[in-house]
Amino acid sequence: MADNYLENKFEEFRNKPAAKKSTRSLGTLLRQNRSYRGYDKSCVVTQAQLRRIVEVCTRIPSGRNQQALRFKLITKDTGADRMQGLYKLGGALPELHLPFPGTEPEAFIVICSVKEPDRWVNMDIGIAAQSMLLKAVEMGLGGICIGAFNPAAVTEAFALPCPPQLVLAIGKPAEHIELVSVREGDDLRYYREGGIHYVPKIAVDDLIL
Ligand SMILES: Cc1cc2nc3c(=O)[nH]c(=O)nc-3n(C[C@H](O)[C@H](O)[C@H](O)COP(=O)(O)O)c2cc1C
Repeated sequence: MADNYLENKFEEFRNKPAAKKSTRSLGTLLRQNRSYRGYDKSCVVTQAQLRRIVEVCTRIPSGRNQQALRFKLITKDTGADRMQGLYKLGGALPELHLPFPGTEPEAFIVICSVKEPDRWVNMDIGIAAQSMLLKAVEMGLGGICIGAFNPAAVTEAFALPCPPQLVLAIGKPAEHIELVSVREGDDLRYYREGGIHYVPKIAVDDLIL
């Protein structure tokens, strides 16, 4: 029987009642799709859930339709502990040493490329990452793109057959994040006050050329 067959079937069954269309609009999903750096470890993300997230990549565009991306799924029972120490979160808040102990992510999707990344592959990575994160939010989870990881160490730790380009952490968010509208030229660094993580976003008037 294929690896994870039963887990996948169980996940399909478990998600049947929720198979009705999500009532959340794209606007709501986008607002909730923040970069989370702390997770509720009582929620253990399964391989089947990560597989459902990666499945969105069968329905996204790809430059020249090359589809060079491949995905390594890492969960608590498949070596997530080996990922700890191989990535950095919250570079703009170094004094906080994120993630806080006990809130580390325990599920990851490592996005790899079977082709030397060119501008098309790099665009594909962004499209895939955002699509997968939106799917995670739709499933009641959340995540973050992690570019600050050690590619050589991640390749070795998970015996990756092709080079990792970006890591997504996935889990049940344990952070309160708010967007703040700012103007062109304002400080764009995220910050924390009173336990809330604030993310400045440039207003639409200033985005349009
Ligand atoms: C390609 C990419 C790489 C990123 N790498 C990291 C990272 O290594 N560590 C981190 O803490 N955040 C990382 N982030 C998250 C950004 O810091 C985050 O998107 C930004 O602060 C805005 O917050 P928001 O995603 O909630 O809107 C990355 C985001 C993107 C899109």
